[in-house]
Amino acid sequence: MFRSTATRQAVRALTQTSRPAVLTASSRPALARSFFRPISSTAPRAQNDGNNKSRKDPLVTATTNAPEGTLGETEGRFARTDESLQIEYPDDEHMPPQPVVQGRGGMHFKRTLAQYSLENKVSLVTGGARGLGLVMAQAIVASGSDLAIVDLNKEEAEEQAHKLVEQFRKENPGLEQMPNVTAHYADVADPDSVNAALTEIIGKHGRIDNLVTSAGFTENFDAISYPYDRVQKLWGVNVDGTYLFATGVAKHLMERKVPGSIVMIGSMSGAIVNVPQPQAPYNAAKAAVRHLAASLAVEWAGHQIRVNCISPGYMLTALTRKILDENPELRDKWISLIPAGKMGTPEDLMGPVTFLLSDAAKYITGADLRVDGGYTLT
Ligand SMILES: NC(=O)c1ccc[n+]([C@@H]2O[C@H](COP(=O)([O-])OP(=O)(O)OC[C@H]3O[C@@H](n4cnc5c(N)ncnc54)[C@H](O)[C@@H]3O)[C@@H](O)[C@H]2O)c1
Repeated sequence: MFRSTATRQAVRALTQTSRPAVLTASSRPALARSFFRPISSTAPRAQNDGNNKSRKDPLVTATTNAPEGTLGETEGRFARTDESLQIEYPDDEHMPPQPVVQGRGGMHFKRTLAQYSLENKVSLVTGGARGLGLVMAQAIVASGSDLAIVDLNKEEAEEQAHKLVEQFRKENPGLEQMPNVTAHYADVADPDSVNAALTEIIGKHGRIDNLVTSAGFTENFDAISYPYDRVQKLWGVNVDGTYLFATGVAKHLMERKVPGSIVMIGSMSGAIVNVPQPQAPYNAAKAAVRHLAASLAVEWAGHQIRVNCISPGYMLTALTRKILDENPELRDKWISLIPAGKMGTPEDLMGPVTFLLSDAAKYITGADLRVDGGYTLT
């Protein structure tokens, strides 16, 4: 049977908060005693609330039978959000650029199924100038597709488009035909801007076959003090932006009567509540993205348009590196909650995105592929 999120978090809090106690010499005998006590003897002791002995029982003090605050500051510590944590999404001029990944294609290829190839396709990646979008864009180019990068920052997108072709040239010496990689401006939250970008891309490439929606951002405020205009902006970019590009590309595919593949970048935050940083609007936005993918997968299945979601966990992009440099205590908390024990790198998305876009995933639609080192399993 599945455990509810509340139970999972209670268990997680219990294990993490009681772990240090196991290590102290004085608490060890008491804990060992209660650990080996037969299960049948636990219920009567827990019910006897007025009994001093039960108040001292380390397991009873971790239940609802103990008064609030009995466990001191460790009570729920690893399972609650911390309102004092505020992280604003930076202005464009303060965004760190993302380097192009080395040695992932060309001569470094090993034999694999032809189904994974994206040759003769035109793919579009929103938010492709930086971060996860840029690295996924590189995987798409390395897999043989032409590419249109769409971003709010056109200058950065142009620079990266140039670098992607240079990287491809280096990794494929002797190949004459280079991929056609173009850069385009769009504010994904603005329908006119999205339509203008789609028209420009179709004008330059002749068509669009695949879409990856990676434009999106997160920031941290507790829900009560979150400035509402920022909430609207966050939902606009993460949800409306995904919806507008998906419907725009699907309409184009339906007009051409050809199959296509759409991958929406959600987040594990669409399935769990991150701690300790508060981010309710982002979590809700990513849950919307995940279910939008499922809903559109059903709606467009008859048109052979597949729609899937990738939900990454904590990935070390140039931006997350900046955030963790400024909030060093976050890194240890995050890593302590990941079964794999490590954050992911943007390169960890190169395979998943290529797979879902390609014919290798021809019968996969409406799926949510979690790339999170097991975070959402515990
Ligand atoms: N980095 C992570 O750990 C992580 C984890 C889970 C999910 N995600 C999701 O992955 C996606 C990419 O995140 P990232 O870490 O690469 O972020 P990033 O900030 O490094 O890159 C996002 C890109 O999107 C562009 N962008 C932002 N707003 C835009 C708009 N209105 N119109 C067009 N482009 C816009 C930015 O200019 C930037 O190039 C986001 O949807 C994010 O929520 C990231």
